[in-house]
Amino acid sequence: MPVLPVEAYTSQEWYNLEMEHIFGNTWQFAGLIEDVANPGDFVTVQCGSQNIMVVKGKDQRLRAFHNICRHKGTQLLRSAGKAKTAITCPYHAWTYSLQGELQSVPDEEKQFPNLDKKKFCLHKAQVETWRGMVFVHPDPKAEPLHEFLCGFENYISPYHKPEELQELTAFKQEHVIHANWKLVAENYMDVYHLNHLHSKTLFMFNHDKASFGYAGPHYTFVEPVHEKDYEKRINNQPISKIKGVDSTLVYVPMIFPNIGLAESQTNWSTFHIIPLAPNKCKVVLRTKVQPMSTSETIKNIPKFIRSYFGFLQLQKLKDGDPMESYDFVLEDNYACEQQQKALQSKMFSVGASAEVTEAQCRQYQQIIKDFVEGNRHLHKERIVMREFQY
Ligand code: FES
Ligand SMILES: [Fe+2]
Repeated sequence: MPVLPVEAYTSQEWYNLEMEHIFGNTWQFAGLIEDVANPGDFVTVQCGSQNIMVVKGKDQRLRAFHNICRHKGTQLLRSAGKAKTAITCPYHAWTYSLQGELQSVPDEEKQFPNLDKKKFCLHKAQVETWRGMVFVHPDPKAEPLHEFLCGFENYISPYHKPEELQELTAFKQEHVIHANWKLVAENYMDVYHLNHLHSKTLFMFNHDKASFGYAGPHYTFVEPVHEKDYEKRINNQPISKIKGVDSTLVYVPMIFPNIGLAESQTNWSTFHIIPLAPNKCKVVLRTKVQPMSTSETIKNIPKFIRSYFGFLQLQKLKDGDPMESYDFVLEDNYACEQQQKALQSKMFSVGASAEVTEAQCRQYQQIIKDFVEGNRHLHKERIVMREFQY
């Protein structure tokens, strides 16, 4: 039965606790390394109540800072983009170097005759890169990323090198979902629904042979394809197979708390769940493929999108029933929004929970509960929930 109460999905109090103990106090995905490829490039990410910016310095180093001005706290950088050679606050134009030092203050001599600028550097946060992804932690003294990952890297695809792949930017998707962010995460890892909700969309994978479990708080999942159908599908792809990916296993793990990965023969994707409110979140999907020339990539996009799903009928994406969309993302979004609505019903309760294929969702709830209650140390070990030899 569920570990978390209904309020965990509906109340502002629970949401605030998660922002403080989870999003404000774990490593958070901030983007892909190509987002901050050149000096001055920056991305920002909300980590609970703290906004963190990652800036590439002139020395090619990435640095993370709390995105607040040392004068009166105004947010310095918005969204993502390119700072010129320095960071200037929009309010009174205090200006910082890309290394975070306070460089200049308007009217300094008259208005701040005793200001020691060295004391007003930007507050540091932590940044690390891993497999082409940028992660930040608001606490400069937090455990390093590899410790947080608890051996997760041993249970993902050993074949993919995402840092060598190319993003298919036209395939970037953003969906606002009217559901608590945990419903989306739990749905991502729910093995029970795969044969049912996705019977028309993810039938090429053998869900009955899925292996899954946890490495610390991080979900691990791998399953084989139904070989015959898949080879046909792959051969019709306009996008090449990823070099070095010899296996037909598909890895779909999730780094705690909110960053899913999908690693297949043709693509490598991120599925980033961003909480917006107790009953609302946003999902951003990004996909990387084997590098191609730009013109080839552009030409192949519509064909790729069709053949990616094989059966996708693009015209149906525009309107109508998500259950007839032939798009598994829309099917999932629909299911999550329906669950959120059900939570408001006086009659709502979970009748029963599948012994094995929903066990990982119960474990995820336990992890959330323990993090919020200050017991994160309980989640450092490997847990196997179902395992096959392929
Ligand atoms: S708040 Fe940034 S310069 Fe005043
Ligand atoms: Fe799904």
